[in-house]
Amino acid sequence: MSAVKIKRDVYYIGVSDPDIRTFDIIMKTANGTTYNAYLVKTTQGVIILDTVKEEFSQEFFENIESVCRYEEIKYIVMHHLEPDHSGALLELTKKAPQAKVFISPMAGPMIKAITGKEDIEFENVWTNKELKLGDKTLKFLSTPNLHWPETMSSYLVEEKVLFSGDVFGSHYFDSRVFNDLVGDFEYAFKYYYEHIMRPFKSDVINAIKLYEKLDIDIVATLHGPVLRKNPHEYIELYKKWSTKTDRLHGKKIVSIFYVTSYKNTKDMAERIYDGLESSETLIANIYDLMALDEQNMLSILEESTGIIIGTPTINSDAPKPVWDLLSCMMLLEKKGKIGACFGSFGWSGEAVDMIQARLKALKFRVPLEPQKIKLVPTKMELNESYNFGVEFGEIVNGKMMEMTL
Ligand SMILES: Cc1cc2nc3c(=O)[nH]c(=O)nc-3n(C[C@H](O)[C@H](O)[C@H](O)COP(=O)(O)O)c2cc1C
Ligand SMILES: [Fe+2]
Ligand SMILES: [Fe+2]
Repeated sequence: MSAVKIKRDVYYIGVSDPDIRTFDIIMKTANGTTYNAYLVKTTQGVIILDTVKEEFSQEFFENIESVCRYEEIKYIVMHHLEPDHSGALLELTKKAPQAKVFISPMAGPMIKAITGKEDIEFENVWTNKELKLGDKTLKFLSTPNLHWPETMSSYLVEEKVLFSGDVFGSHYFDSRVFNDLVGDFEYAFKYYYEHIMRPFKSDVINAIKLYEKLDIDIVATLHGPVLRKNPHEYIELYKKWSTKTDRLHGKKIVSIFYVTSYKNTKDMAERIYDGLESSETLIANIYDLMALDEQNMLSILEESTGIIIGTPTINSDAPKPVWDLLSCMMLLEKKGKIGACFGSFGWSGEAVDMIQARLKALKFRVPLEPQKIKLVPTKMELNESYNFGVEFGEIVNGKMMEMTL
């Protein structure tokens, strides 16, 4: 593919990767993807916005060469340093050594490690900073965590183009480039959101507050179609997906997940559930993990403020379904979650401690000592399980007295 004009003085200079089938380990890419980059011409020189994955460098440079000479390049703006966008940066700085590189402050410590160039020169920019070159103005917007901590966006004032970075992207290759010309990429747009942006919903909302102040004709993303038809619809979708709904009218959800071989952990789970249910301001759920599929785990984990995990110890470990549950947290926001653990054991009982440590590592608040019971819980121990549920419920309801573990 060659360079494509997307607006007056604005060119798409990205490349296509139709054959990629897995992206960043965690995403399936049935339709391949694209690594988008852009070029802006001004009356006093050229600005390059982002580069591409290294193995596609040649095509990227051919695209640049079809629009300008390297001597004309005054600035390189890197919205995101992940290698799918920074792969050709080092070579570009060699071809255009006069060009100044603009990055966010968070990108400073990363850029040397990514390019391997110790003396790479760059300047930091953030929200309200702007670059004026000839007849063009580029305003920078700090949009951290979308997708890495250093990610930013920018807005070309005269042409009303938002260069969004990874935000609003899709892993979807179609050589027709524009959203109104390509095939139906709705599933790819949503899938991309769920795997890349969903863990950072609060950051998405903060970014949208910045985008909403802008008059946008085109959203120029870093992957998939360039959004020129109804770009606001895509922004609205991100807003809807990232806004917490209050369908429970202020009630908080606490979910218990357990596995059990001989019912011991299950009996504890049920008493903890009863304890939680004694609170009228909570909705308590109880799930046998053996019968829960991953999509359901994700939505239950996402809507639950409190997450209580019950596991027996099997061969000095927690069984795989418990670890699978916790690995779902990679795709979710952890802010504000409260966790607790319990379980029955025979002699060593390390599973509960491992899961407790894992919850802490995931940055959950874990205010209670775990409840561990040897083999079959006695009546008295089951009463303690009930109290464990009551106490956890009080903490989720905002009780101030909390042990800090
Ligand atoms: C295959 C197997 C391996 C076990 N390994 C351990 C272990 O390493 N450490 C331990 O404390 N208990 C171990 N146990 C004992 C269980 O944790 C114990 O029976 C517990 O009460 C089971 O609770 P549940 O009925 O909720 O599954 C093991 C039990 C089984 C069946
Ligand atoms: Fe990325
Ligand atoms: Fe990317």
